[in-house]
Amino acid sequence: MCGIIARIGHGDAAETLLSGLENLEYRGYDSAGIAVQNGSGVKVHKCSGEVDDLKSSLESQPHGNMGIGHTRWSTHGPPTDANAHPHTDTAGDVAVVHNGVIDNYDELRTELQAKGHEFESDTDTEVIPHLIDEYRTETGDSEEAVRRAVETLEGSYAIAAIVDGEEAVYAARKGSPLVLGLDDEEWFLASDVPAFLDHTDEVIYLEDGDIVVLDPDSYRITDLEGTPIDRSTDTVDWDPEDAGKGEYDHYMLKEINNQPTSLSNTIEGRIDDGDVALEELPAGTFEDVETVQFVACGTSYHAAMYGANLLRSAGISTEVVRASEYTSMSGPVDEGTLVVAVTQSGETADTLEAVREATARGARSLAVTNVVGSTAAREADDAIYIRAGPEVGVAATKTFSSQAVTLALLTQRLAADVPTATPAEDRETMLEELKELPEHVERVLETTDAASLARDTVDSKSYFFIGNGLGHSVALEGALKFKEITYEHAEGFAAGELKHGPLALVTDETPVFAVATGSGDGKTKTNAIEAQTRGAPIVAVSPDDHPLTDVAEVHLSVPDTHPVWAGLLANVQLQLVSYHAADVLERPIDKPRNLAKSVTVE
Ligand code: BG6
Repeated sequence: MCGIIARIGHGDAAETLLSGLENLEYRGYDSAGIAVQNGSGVKVHKCSGEVDDLKSSLESQPHGNMGIGHTRWSTHGPPTDANAHPHTDTAGDVAVVHNGVIDNYDELRTELQAKGHEFESDTDTEVIPHLIDEYRTETGDSEEAVRRAVETLEGSYAIAAIVDGEEAVYAARKGSPLVLGLDDEEWFLASDVPAFLDHTDEVIYLEDGDIVVLDPDSYRITDLEGTPIDRSTDTVDWDPEDAGKGEYDHYMLKEINNQPTSLSNTIEGRIDDGDVALEELPAGTFEDVETVQFVACGTSYHAAMYGANLLRSAGISTEVVRASEYTSMSGPVDEGTLVVAVTQSGETADTLEAVREATARGARSLAVTNVVGSTAAREADDAIYIRAGPEVGVAATKTFSSQAVTLALLTQRLAADVPTATPAEDRETMLEELKELPEHVERVLETTDAASLARDTVDSKSYFFIGNGLGHSVALEGALKFKEITYEHAEGFAAGELKHGPLALVTDETPVFAVATGSGDGKTKTNAIEAQTRGAPIVAVSPDDHPLTDVAEVHLSVPDTHPVWAGLLANVQLQLVSYHAADVLERPIDKPRNLAKSVTVE
């Protein structure tokens, strides 16, 4: 997935484009570029590397009141200067930035080359400016040319284009997110609101098939036939400060430390007198539901496993399917199926496609997401927000905790609605203890030994994370976090699974982090001892009185609380271990290689 931005208005555009790209860099950081129009041609500045590399490559600040920008996560063609966006037509009159994948770019490229168009990159995107140029020649009208160009594209796209000599920005979307930012002095288009949040919080979420034309004083939205469309305006309730690092060295550390606040927001107003109160999902919402299917990717998949564990305990038949595997892996689907998309960004293509497949087969859909106005929220029958606030660090942290809490609350809703379900007997206690979770997280943050443990174990050969029940999804999440930001070999297992193969990898150079929540993890101690017997140092991540602490060399303490919440506290400890290990290894923690915050291509 890439980040695109466009700006038109009064005064120079370059600075705004560059700072907007910095706020979009969690979407990809393989290359960056801008194109500015200043009445004497379209000036393109681009290079491989990060926005900082682009800024230092600029001799002087380009002038011009309008322009487009791009930060790249490579799909077609390696991260080189030539493959960086913006791309132009042969004459350099049309410049385009794009987020998405053009599936039919090969045949379009061959057709255009046969007509004399010269290509400079390996990308799929480069066909777009050449197509626009082709149709401009035919129609003499740039807006019509953009419309015709996108009609020939197959795949997903959010594009922005500028044309030499025209004070206008043209844009279109299908399958990739695009939002219009409205301000008195200027208009913005971007892949996500953080790109222009410090300028305006007035936005229009564009839909598939929308064509947008901006000029310095007005904007126009039409469909592919050119018919004007009226779209509602929304106000984003995120604070621009949220988009900054504050006093922290990294967004990831800021977001880990932000969890007492983000969890308070997730919980606020959702517990009422020992029961859940979900304004988005009132009582009775799920009376017709028989089975639940979670679809998700990455960290969200582990949060879904956490939720599924709770739903099964309430007697609701539940499946967790890796979204990228949905077509081949999902079980039967019908009107009684509720497909739940767990996705913090609400834009992960694999997850969106899985939901579309499930609803096409009759399922009802629910989006559990962090982004109001995201595609997942707009396409689903219902949506519930995790309210974690913007998350910029590519490795998800606070959103996992808020997802798991939201799914635990959703479980109570479903358990009350689904005729065959049995609400948890200790529901009131569990909800009462949920109110203390933010405080408990605060205590973990203040008392953790994660930094010294990370320093002591950073030269290990591999890192294993084990757990049972709720601890299993936390172990998998701990391992994923460790892999994502340290680049070290780490794996998570159901504790009981270790002896059925992975134990062969265990030595005195492979610390084993054993996660225990106090529920369903009776055997974790035995499994940890099996690893210890092969020399592995054991790290217990558990409440102080858990039997695991008797055998472990090191203990990362988890405050006493209901097992459903103990797992999340253990996960905060593991987030910190990963962060400090990556810090010791001097890894680019917020922008780990080859990754992006959410991937909007399949
Ligand atoms: C990956 C991110 O691209 O997408 C992960 O690097 C994330 O951190 C995963 O968990 C799923 O993203 P989302 O937005 O669907 O939760």
